[in-house]
Amino acid sequence: MTATVALVLRRGRLLGSPATGELVDIAMDGGYITAIGPRLAVTGAQEIDVQGQLVSPPFVESHIHLDSALTAGQPRWNESGTLFEGIAIWSDRKQSLTLADVQERAIAALKMQARQGVLFVRSHADVSEPNFTPLKALLAVREAVKDWITVQVVAFPQDGIYSSPGNAERMEEALKLGADAVGGIPHYELTREDGVKSVQYGFDLAEKYDRLVDIHCDEIDDDQSRFLEVVAAEAIRRNMGHRVTASHTTAFGSYNNAYAFKLMGFVKRAGINFVANPLINLTLQGRGDTYPKRRGLTRVKELWQQGQNVSLGSDCIQDPWYSLGTGNLLEVASVAVHGCQMTGRDQLEACYAMITENGARTLNLAGNYGLAVGQPANVITLDTTDEIAAIRDRATVCTVISRGVPLVTTVPAQTTWHRDPGNLS
Ligand code: FE2
Repeated sequence: MTATVALVLRRGRLLGSPATGELVDIAMDGGYITAIGPRLAVTGAQEIDVQGQLVSPPFVESHIHLDSALTAGQPRWNESGTLFEGIAIWSDRKQSLTLADVQERAIAALKMQARQGVLFVRSHADVSEPNFTPLKALLAVREAVKDWITVQVVAFPQDGIYSSPGNAERMEEALKLGADAVGGIPHYELTREDGVKSVQYGFDLAEKYDRLVDIHCDEIDDDQSRFLEVVAAEAIRRNMGHRVTASHTTAFGSYNNAYAFKLMGFVKRAGINFVANPLINLTLQGRGDTYPKRRGLTRVKELWQQGQNVSLGSDCIQDPWYSLGTGNLLEVASVAVHGCQMTGRDQLEACYAMITENGARTLNLAGNYGLAVGQPANVITLDTTDEIAAIRDRATVCTVISRGVPLVTTVPAQTTWHRDPGNLS
């Protein structure tokens, strides 16, 4: 008699297995993966035959702003395409925020991502406003969606911590309200000294409240914006590297090589995580350049080559900073391939890892991520054969299983020729 489990996924091609390798079944029960192997002798109360589709752990969105998602054009379009016009537009849009407004847009964005295979999301919440509407809304969303998608919320001081009275106190209050991580934006503080102080304050809060750190760091073309060294130094001194993320770090792409090489050693020693957001930073940065025009990306390839954990994020879905975006992380990986010139075979596969396992490291999901027996049963299947084809084709995510239960399925688009192409002239 064969054992019965809640769900069996039949005939999947396991991520990383050779094209000629055997297809595998994945058994899931009680929300966990209980067995993986060819032709498992188990019966599922529900069985899904994926007919050779690629089976992957879910995508991880390691950097997004759900509070501003789906507001592009409100109250006006970002015509200059710059970070600073985006901040000004958001400042106006914030005046009309309500809890319901933020929650509805955030959940709509999460559903867009979940149907495309994303089951873990780190979102920043703007805490520069006295009423905490974005933070309270996203904390409520985190709770409301927890059965099907995991959301982390970062207390993000969009307007700076020391730029106006009360913001520093609001950061601490945000942690008391339940934010998972401390944010920062040192390059937007009024002075270099304030920027340094803001990073140190963020680390102090993270230690005091036992939270993660994720700082918007040097998201500017200014080659003199050097707060990454401060983040690395604090991480080294406090031995917190794996709990610390430096997001964006686009100025790293503008530093002279002598400084950049020195900094590479510091960040390696610190062991911090990096998040690059190629969609937005390729369009946002370099706006002050004529030609040659900088790409505005951090040194993704070089960080990856030295073994640093680098993940990729969407950053924005249709908001004042980036009017496009659908939350599709395969698109993000594809744009990273181009923008970071990561076209080698290993490099292409690395870009897939940057939206899966590397993202899981950034989010500190240790022990709760991956296709292995005993792990939570979060599995996606794609209409493709391997990672490279998935990025190339923006493969359709056909099945999304969350906590051992099917969440959403999508049928790939089908094309029908009505004449023989060979005879078309
Ligand atoms: Fe961001």
